[in-house]
Amino acid sequence: MKSFLSISLFASLASAIWPIPSSYEHGETVLWITRDVPVYYNSVIEVGSITYQNEPYIICSQIKSRSFANNESSDSLSAASMIDYAIKSAWRTIFENSFVPWKFHPREWEEPSPKEAAYITKIKLELLQADPQDVAKPLAGEVDESYTLKLTEDGEVTICGNSTVGLIRGVTTFTQLFFKHSQGGAYTTLAPVRIADAPKFSHRGVNLDVSRNFFSVQDIKRQIDAIAYNKMNRFHLHVTDSQSWPLEIPSLPELAEKGAYRPDLIYSTKDFKDIQYHAAIQGVEMITEIDMPGHTSSIWYSYPDLISAFNIQPNWDTYAAEPPSGTLKLNSTEVGEFLETLFDDLLPRVHPYSSYFHTGGDEVNKNAYELDDTVRSKDPAVLQPLMQKFIDRNHDQIRAQGLTPVVWEEMLLDWNLTLGEDVIVQTWQSDEAVAQVVEKGHKALVGNYKYWYLDCGKGQWLDFSPSSAAGFWPFQDYCAPFHNWRLIYSYDPLAGVPEDKAHLVLGGEAHMWAEQTDPINVDRMIWPRACAAAEVLWSGAKDGNGKNRSQIEASPRLSEMRERLVAKEIGAEPIQMPYCIMNGTQCALGVS
Ligand SMILES: *[C@@H]1O[C@H](CO)[C@@H](O)[C@H](O)[C@H]1NC(C)=O
Ligand SMILES: *[C@@H]1O[C@H](CO)[C@@H](O)[C@H](O)[C@H]1NC(C)=O
Ligand SMILES: *[C@@H]1O[C@H](CO)[C@@H](O)[C@H](O)[C@H]1NC(C)=O
Ligand SMILES: *[C@@H]1O[C@H](CO)[C@@H](O)[C@H](O)[C@H]1NC(C)=O
Ligand SMILES: *[C@@H]1O[C@H](CO)[C@@H](O)[C@H](O)[C@H]1NC(C)=O
Ligand SMILES: *[C@@H]1O[C@H](CO)[C@@H](O)[C@H](O)[C@H]1NC(C)=O
Repeated sequence: MKSFLSISLFASLASAIWPIPSSYEHGETVLWITRDVPVYYNSVIEVGSITYQNEPYIICSQIKSRSFANNESSDSLSAASMIDYAIKSAWRTIFENSFVPWKFHPREWEEPSPKEAAYITKIKLELLQADPQDVAKPLAGEVDESYTLKLTEDGEVTICGNSTVGLIRGVTTFTQLFFKHSQGGAYTTLAPVRIADAPKFSHRGVNLDVSRNFFSVQDIKRQIDAIAYNKMNRFHLHVTDSQSWPLEIPSLPELAEKGAYRPDLIYSTKDFKDIQYHAAIQGVEMITEIDMPGHTSSIWYSYPDLISAFNIQPNWDTYAAEPPSGTLKLNSTEVGEFLETLFDDLLPRVHPYSSYFHTGGDEVNKNAYELDDTVRSKDPAVLQPLMQKFIDRNHDQIRAQGLTPVVWEEMLLDWNLTLGEDVIVQTWQSDEAVAQVVEKGHKALVGNYKYWYLDCGKGQWLDFSPSSAAGFWPFQDYCAPFHNWRLIYSYDPLAGVPEDKAHLVLGGEAHMWAEQTDPINVDRMIWPRACAAAEVLWSGAKDGNGKNRSQIEASPRLSEMRERLVAKEIGAEPIQMPYCIMNGTQCALGVS
């Protein structure tokens, strides 16, 4: 094939794909695309033990009317509906939510002429194997997300994947080849294109806290769209905490009625299903977290007898990391019964869309159990066996519902609990924590707060009295400074992990704790900084030569990804001035 350019530092402007593929070659021929280009899809249909491969291609408008192996029911997803959604969404991205790339060209730049245009003639999606069962809700590593994308100079596109999710990732990359023309229409300047791509880590996510502040279903879906567009595959919803309980639990109706900030700031069972479905159909698995036994004070509003040390003032900090203090009692049969009812209600509604359930377990404050009438002790030797019983009960019920438990690192590393081999341990405090978790043989998620906490550096949200304020000046928060994208990008999930344990690091998440984030600023708090985490998790922290990835190479691509997100109506911040990227990389420093 002729006229492939290998991507060099300067040729990469406006040929951006984020996250960067494992291998990517392209030319510089202009091809236009129209809405009516035919899309063909070969399905692999499995009936019983017989796999019918190489079915004739069907035109995509017929996809949904066919019957598929994963029969669509009201509760689960078919591969057909995922492909159908991916194509419709790609069309919206290419033809409606696109941008004119003037920022990536010199001032005198002229757009390609629409006269004598050559066109994309045909798009083929090729599923190479039958999907595993539950392709939309795999355990880490169960679904192959690799894909290849070929665009020939005469306009034929072939995207191949070993799974429906792989195909979806390929379709996402395809949209990033195109730009909007100011006179209308969409074109690529990159034909021919050859890409082979696969993720480095199998768990790539964003965690959003919707308890400290409330976010509408639309706000949440917008974050999921951006997550999917970054080829992330997990959305962690930290749905309850001490400040509010916005999740409707029909068998315990007062929980949300009284525990939400307002009775109308609630995710109904329908909303909860909508959010999970919206994620799953894009190959994003939602992981719901009910954090416990700490971070539960909002239960007090409906079930005061279950909570110890509720809202101690003014010295709340003796009993909790944040006000209001309060924790589920640790030796109470009522708490056990409550959790059984809660899980019986919630877990069957999680199961159609996810293989995971997160029981939290961070920042449990032992002092709070001195005030717990079922324990009256803060002695670790007294508390530890009770915590073990607490977690065993919870995890047994989660497994009985066919789900895999996830916990925060403290349960393993501070409480020394014996966890099932299946349990995934989410670290946040340090790289040493990751090393310790895998040393103990557990699967780990990374997200060191010094790199991947998106809330940091906003300054304190606590108020200090005039007499003590001077001691807190200039009112930095606990994890200042602000974690800019370069800091996020410099984080290596495998830092400090011995090579023979690296396989236990499943991936990680960027975290959006919401004390100072609400729907007004959430887009720019998360984007484009979480894109940096997405690339580390998809492409790896090191490049093909084993070197740290270059900011100089990444920043024009991230600027372009930011334009794509903005075009998709996600309020992502700029990372540079247009000047920096209009004529090569003008804003680099320290390049010899
Ligand atoms: C889909 O479900 C229907 C009804 O349950 C069944 O008859 C059909 O064989 C299923 N199709 C496939 C491809 O499994
Ligand atoms: C599909 O699986 C095959 C065999 O494991 C592998 O060689 C290939 O890279 C995978 N991905 C694609 C897109 O073909
Ligand atoms: C836990 O509760 C049981 C039953 O009330 C009681 O017998 C036991 O002493 C309690 N354990 C602790 C450590 O307080
Ligand atoms: C866990 O083990 C460490 C080290 O042995 C110890 O300091 C800590 O108190 C233990 N935690 C509990 C809750 O028993
Ligand atoms: C690569 O990045 C790590 C941080 O992840 C840093 O400690 C190391 O010094 C960098 N290596 C080089 C050669 O710059
Ligand atoms: C654009 O960049 C090239 C290469 O660095 C340089 O030679 C040229 O002077 C620049 N043009 C402007 C207008 O800055």
